[in-house]
Amino acid sequence: MKNNIIIAIDGYSSTGKSTMAKWLASEAGYRYIDSGAMYRAVTLYALRNGMIDTDKHVDTTRLIEALPGLTIDFCREGQRQQTLLNGEDVEEEIRKMEVSSRVSVIAAIPEVRHRLVAMQRALGEEGGIVMDGRDIGTTVFPQARMKVFVTSSAEVRAERRYKELLEKGEDVAYDDVLANVIERDHIDETREESPLRKADDALLLDNSYMSRDEQNKWLMETFRRVSEKVD
Ligand code: DC
Repeated sequence: MKNNIIIAIDGYSSTGKSTMAKWLASEAGYRYIDSGAMYRAVTLYALRNGMIDTDKHVDTTRLIEALPGLTIDFCREGQRQQTLLNGEDVEEEIRKMEVSSRVSVIAAIPEVRHRLVAMQRALGEEGGIVMDGRDIGTTVFPQARMKVFVTSSAEVRAERRYKELLEKGEDVAYDDVLANVIERDHIDETREESPLRKADDALLLDNSYMSRDEQNKWLMETFRRVSEKVD
């Protein structure tokens, strides 16, 4: 399709943002970038190197020193998207609970955000991308032509996440998943650096009771409308 615009899809965790961003990117022939995976990759790096403990205390000095040496990239193998941390495929590891339960703490560190925002801007330089995250429409690409802010109820999101984790064979309790969703919302909304909030010019999409088809139809109509306006 014409016009290589930037599409920012922000919102709460487990709203299905990445599924919709991936779908739209493939329909539009755009590149998909999962900015949350970048925060997860830094969290995994911190965990592996003993920079974050079970109480979520972070050795920020060591982590900040290590940041310039980290590379994060994405590649596709068939339908599967891989997240590469210093060249290693960490896609599966970054989705585990030990990373999920610590990532908000890492994402609240200003130096981590600055480094990742710079990487994200470089990845999106030429347009033709769909990037999902929390601050894409507000901070990373305030000039994005299409901005969507996705929400759904905490219970609906916890249910989705719980099913996903069970399918992956993780031994988790629904109540713990719900508590994690609520805790992450709170940290994401109240952090000082780029808190989660809807950009004024973003379109709100509450998908609590929407089917996948209804959502895709809405996304495609919105994309067509927005990209037709661009010269
Ligand atoms: O979308 P996700 O659940 O994979 O995101 C993981 C964490 O990273 C989540 O706690 C919020 C944070 N994040 C962020 O602060 N800014 C982004 N652009 C993307 C994710």
